[in-house]
Amino acid sequence: MYSRIAGTGRYLPERIVTNSELATRVDTSDEWIRARTGIERRHIAADDETTASLSTQAARAAMDAAGVDAADIDLIVVGTTTPDLVFPNVACLVQERLGIPACPAFSLEAACTGFIYALSMADKMIATGSANCALVIGAETLSRIVDWNDRTTCVLFGDGAGAVVLRPADTPGVLSCHLGADGRYQDLLFSPYGTSKRPPPDADDVSYIKMKGNEVFKVAVKTLEGLVTKTLEAHQLDKSAIDWLIPHQANTRIIQATAKRLELPMEKVILTVQDHGNTSAASVPMALDTAVRDGRIQRGELLLLEAFGGGFTWGSALIRY
Ligand code: UT7
Repeated sequence: MYSRIAGTGRYLPERIVTNSELATRVDTSDEWIRARTGIERRHIAADDETTASLSTQAARAAMDAAGVDAADIDLIVVGTTTPDLVFPNVACLVQERLGIPACPAFSLEAACTGFIYALSMADKMIATGSANCALVIGAETLSRIVDWNDRTTCVLFGDGAGAVVLRPADTPGVLSCHLGADGRYQDLLFSPYGTSKRPPPDADDVSYIKMKGNEVFKVAVKTLEGLVTKTLEAHQLDKSAIDWLIPHQANTRIIQATAKRLELPMEKVILTVQDHGNTSAASVPMALDTAVRDGRIQRGELLLLEAFGGGFTWGSALIRY
């Protein structure tokens, strides 16, 4: 038994913040942000929106595309690093909002790799017969943990959600997921406080994102190059077999480096970072949905999804769409 993607969806909050708008708040410029990252704008959740509400919208779109109802779903997995609450987890909140009957529902944290980790878990549950119709979501409200006075990070991140419905199939589908992590790099990209590690009373950086961007950049490029090579080797595939690269949307320069390693022209890379910045776990499913809906990705094509983020964590998914 394999799993295959039956439908995709995404949701971006209405409010758009341009680079120029940010330049009125911190010492930056549209030129710098575009040249160093490729980002042109980002979407920011409204006060009454949360990771669960964004997830719910993306899930509805994916369920419509897959032609499934709430009653069909029997597994919900959400990759997120910005959950609404300590508990219940975001998947339970989505379950309630969509009226999905009792089923396993859990969130997992793997930062920007959250969706690939979630996809891998759901794929295994479908492949082993533990689930028959899985909702897999990557969603974030990073704007809530961004220090809007720190130009080195606030220009990078945005909010959004992407989702897929996975169903069983006799033929792949998800061919493989390769996951990895190395906690020795935790100090290069992190948020300093959480539930168990509380901020001291005088802390002024409560839960902001901290990043040594330049160092993250170098490890990201190297790790992703190794990851895509390992993924191809596992299937004895030549680079030319890949129809589309659907990378985590953190930085155009990182994406270009991975595409170069695969000898893929940029026309074969789904690039959405310009429209919403780095949305962490939401970026890969949103990019996937973008290219499915605009008709670039066709059934039967071979997709390579990859991501890298805080932890560090990383992961790839090779998918026959
Ligand atoms: O999604 C999870 C993984 N995250 C990533 O993959 C992010 C990886 N890192 C990056 O994308 C890049 O490192 C950044 C976009 C964050 C930064 O680009 P960079 O080319 O590595 O720049 P840098 O950090 O080396 O900084 C270059 C200069 C510095 O000034 P000095 O020291 O040369 O005078 C920074 O202070 O740019 C300055 N700078 C800025 N200038 C204008 C940093 N942020 C800004 C800014 N506007 N927003």
